Amino acid sequence: MEIVIASSYDDMSRRAADVFAAQVQQNPETVLGLATGSTPIGLYAALVKDYEDGAVDFSKVTTFNLDEYRGLDPEHDQSYRYFMQKNLFDHVNIDVANTHVPNGADPDAEAACAAYEAGIAEAGGVDLQLLGLGHNGHIGFNEPCDCFPVDTHLVQLTESTIQANSRLFDSIDDVPREAYTMGIGTIMKARRIVMVASGKDKAEIVKAVVSGPVTPEVPASVLQLHPNVTVFVDAEAGSLL
Ligand code: F6R
Repeated sequence: MEIVIASSYDDMSRRAADVFAAQVQQNPETVLGLATGSTPIGLYAALVKDYEDGAVDFSKVTTFNLDEYRGLDPEHDQSYRYFMQKNLFDHVNIDVANTHVPNGADPDAEAACAAYEAGIAEAGGVDLQLLGLGHNGHIGFNEPCDCFPVDTHLVQLTESTIQANSRLFDSIDDVPREAYTMGIGTIMKARRIVMVASGKDKAEIVKAVVSGPVTPEVPASVLQLHPNVTVFVDAEAGSLL
């Protein structure tokens, strides 16, 4: 596991974005795994800038997002599809048909998850996967539990995640209680993984993830077993390393 401690959020975002820009430059038909949340917003802004500067061409890129709330339409302003459109897809020359987010509007969990997993396999797997990090160590919506879920699956959100995400909804009652997420196995199949974490409130969990025991109680700790992971943190999130 390579750890990069950047001086600031902007520095972290730029350096992590450079990995994605280089990936697309080297392989214009690359398959990227993408994440939502507050942390990657600066990274996406940096990639938009690269596109505007003519440095990166997204026209042949394929993407698969980690997760989506179940029960939200893609047009809902808190859906992860909407987030991706607003933060990246609407601002670069990606073909929207090549962008994939689990279909939260599909009530048939088994069919939705199987189709998503099959889509990733058909695309040849993910070359470079972006991850954020939850305060409890979750990646995607893989919450602490007693085993590592393998494939894309339906999850019940934990109270702490519902609480954390409620800041983005009008009321906590509006936060969906379920989501579709790539499994830990899906994530671990990516050929390269980049994780971003920023802020003092992530320092404890970053330390547990990179140097604590590998346990499904801290889902991201499994990344210690992946051969090609880079963790980008800002100085605050890296303050206990
Ligand atoms: C979202 C996702 C989540 C977030 C995590 C951290 O697609 O995969 O696991 O990465 O909840 O979110 P932020 O960046 O908002 O702290």
